[in-house]
Parts: sequence; structure tokens; C-alpha cells
Amino acid sequence: MTELIWKQSYNTGIHEIDIQHRQLLDYVNQLDTARKLNSRTKVKNVIEGMADYTLSHFAFEEALMEQANYPFTGPHRHIHKTLIARVVTFSERFKAGEDIADEFHALLRRWLINHIQRDDAAYVKPVRAHLRAIEQEKASSMEKKDPSSWLSRVAKKFFGG
Ligand SMILES: [Fe+2]
Repeated sequence: MTELIWKQSYNTGIHEIDIQHRQLLDYVNQLDTARKLNSRTKVKNVIEGMADYTLSHFAFEEALMEQANYPFTGPHRHIHKTLIARVVTFSERFKAGEDIADEFHALLRRWLINHIQRDDAAYVKPVRAHLRAIEQEKASSMEKKDPSSWLSRVAKKFFGG
């Protein structure tokens, strides 16, 4: 399978989300490399790193949707939960000694692109409108002491740094 390359059409226009999606895409490519090398250690490291990052990303996205009062936050959260359950199952099979890398990679590759283009694309409009409203509010208030954007502060809460 060919490497996933980021396309313009994957962009949501929400900077933090696009950075996180690019990172997820990179993890899928790392898994591709690891499975081709037939390295269990590499596959293990990628799975662990990716699982961890995905949890943070999902939590960040869900918080954003919630704050924007996105009406489909519940169903979207459910889609995330389903993927997490599948990741857990794959991890367990992997730990039991099974070679799941090809199957897991194929699933993630399909899932990620589909999710970004369909499910994530659906929240972009209300979330961006919400973020614009916050920025305008901030600009009109006297709160100018913190130059970092509200969104990057929220991202730090979920990813640290
Ligand atoms: Fe999502």
C-alpha cells in the first residue's frame, strides 16, 4: 500500500485540529513502515504512541464540539468510542502474539481518511463559528495580556507542553 499523503481537502481550517490529524496520518504511515520491516518492537511502539495520541485528540475534539454546542457531539463521541474499542481489541490480539499489523493498518488507513472527510468535516462550520465568536469577544475585551490563542491553550490542556 502506498504512503498516505496529506491533501488540501483534509484541512478543516482549524489549525490545532489539522496539526493533530497530520500527526495521526503520520502514525498510520509509521505503522505501515513497521509492518513492512516485520518488526514487532516497532509495531508495538507505534501502536502505543498512536493509541495514546488518539485518546488525547479525541478528547480535544469532543471538548471543542461540546463548547460549540455542536448538535451531533453525542453521535461523534460514539464513533470515537467504537474506534477506541477496536484499537483495544487489536492491541489485545497483538499482545497475545498475533500478527495484526497488516489488518490493523488497513483499517486505520481507511478509517482515518473517511472520518476526517465525513465526520470531522461536519463539525467544522459550527466549531469555527464558535472560535470566531470567542476571538471577537477577546479582541473587544481588555484581555490582551495573554498573546496565545484560546484554542492553543485548550490544546495544551490535552497534550501538555
Ligand atoms: Fe473525530
